[in-house]
Amino acid sequence: MQEAKTNTAKRGTFSSGFGVLAATLGSAVGLGNIWKFPYLTGANGGAGFLLIYLLATLVIGLPVMMAELSVGRQARSNPITALQKLAPKGQPWWLIGAAGMIAAFLILSFYSEVVAWVYAYVFKAIGGSILSNDRHVTEAAFNAMIGNPVQSLLWQWGVLIFIGGILLLGVTKGIEALAKKLMPLLFLLLLVLCAVSLSLDKASEGLAFLFSPDFSKITASAILTAMGLAFFKLSLGMGAMLTYGSYFRDDQNIPMTTVRVMAADLCVSMLAGMAIFPAVFTFGFAPAAGPALVFITIPAVFSQIPMGQLLMIAFFVLAAIAATGAMLSLTEVPVVILHERLNISRRRATLLTVLSLAILGSTCALTNNVLADFKLFGLNMFDLYDFISSNVILPAGGILLAVFVGWVWGKEKFADALSNHGKLNNQTVTRGALFLLRYVSPVLTLLVMLKGLNVL
Ligand code: PFF
Repeated sequence: MQEAKTNTAKRGTFSSGFGVLAATLGSAVGLGNIWKFPYLTGANGGAGFLLIYLLATLVIGLPVMMAELSVGRQARSNPITALQKLAPKGQPWWLIGAAGMIAAFLILSFYSEVVAWVYAYVFKAIGGSILSNDRHVTEAAFNAMIGNPVQSLLWQWGVLIFIGGILLLGVTKGIEALAKKLMPLLFLLLLVLCAVSLSLDKASEGLAFLFSPDFSKITASAILTAMGLAFFKLSLGMGAMLTYGSYFRDDQNIPMTTVRVMAADLCVSMLAGMAIFPAVFTFGFAPAAGPALVFITIPAVFSQIPMGQLLMIAFFVLAAIAATGAMLSLTEVPVVILHERLNISRRRATLLTVLSLAILGSTCALTNNVLADFKLFGLNMFDLYDFISSNVILPAGGILLAVFVGWVWGKEKFADALSNHGKLNNQTVTRGALFLLRYVSPVLTLLVMLKGLNVL
């Protein structure tokens, strides 16, 4: 007990209930809420897709997140050591942690480049250079930016240095303190943007795109997409939740926190959709997904709204906040692994992580310019890292973790962890989560993986 206490004090913990919620939500809320979720919902049948997504988060997202958080808190270690500590001697379950670290490096390599564009666009919105209601102009501006290797590299390295700087401040004074300030601001900006967008002429068309149920679009492929999205959205299978769990306080109610994070994350996604699509439809643009939506359509849309420049700045600040919280949680994974496994200071571990990411990430910064023709397995580096992490490592990590908690760590220990050693009376929740982890989540996640690999 004494040892556990000193260990906890040395590692740092999130200091308050709100801090835990803000940081964990900060990890879940990312660019996925802004450029993935709203579009996928609209394109796959609106309300029907929403319902399936909700089911997917309930049967895959929630149990796997509870599993990650409880394993992390129980072991109070980085993902590799945590699984070594909890697994029976000699069984290589720690490979889940190692795979999470590889996924973290790959995801961060391309994600840091997209975050770099978002940061750059905050300044471009302030300077007014992307203010044009002509989609061709905003498209040319975007292509000019990503086509410039020096700009791409410098913005990416700037983002990495910024994230590294926050992580150097530590878990409590860095991650938690920032999340507590930024998450409320994110909600405020979202509400303002939503109010403006919903007051526009053709707001109802945007809402219809998002929500009107079209059950004919609910195909097997849409269902698998919803399940994959639930996984990515809640930052699962990449070691992030496992790491954040290791900073949870002993008295934190894990099932309750998980439900709140899921609900708030869903809320952000829907508000983002309600801020974006009414405006897109009002000005006659086609709904798009991904980078085209955020960097090309959005500037053209906001350029036509009264006070549009201000709203555009608000939009990119919002996206930057979302991206920063997600990136912090994922960068913390290699930092804490290197710090604890190599026994080097947190400072050195952060420097090493940032440096490695600057090198590996530069292959993504250069994907749209110098390395445009460089391909492996038919994919450029940006898409290759995305493919390996999203379609192979994340689902595989999720399946193995569910199997580990459900079958190896087992009922008693999982129940003990979720109930804060018997202090909470939540046996029904535990029983439900265990059932899903044993029989449902691994099978469904395997289907998502097979679809990602084009086997299904
Ligand atoms: N939950 C994040 C999202 O929906 O955008 C996923 C994520 C991506 C987390 C990249 C962390 C990260 F670095």
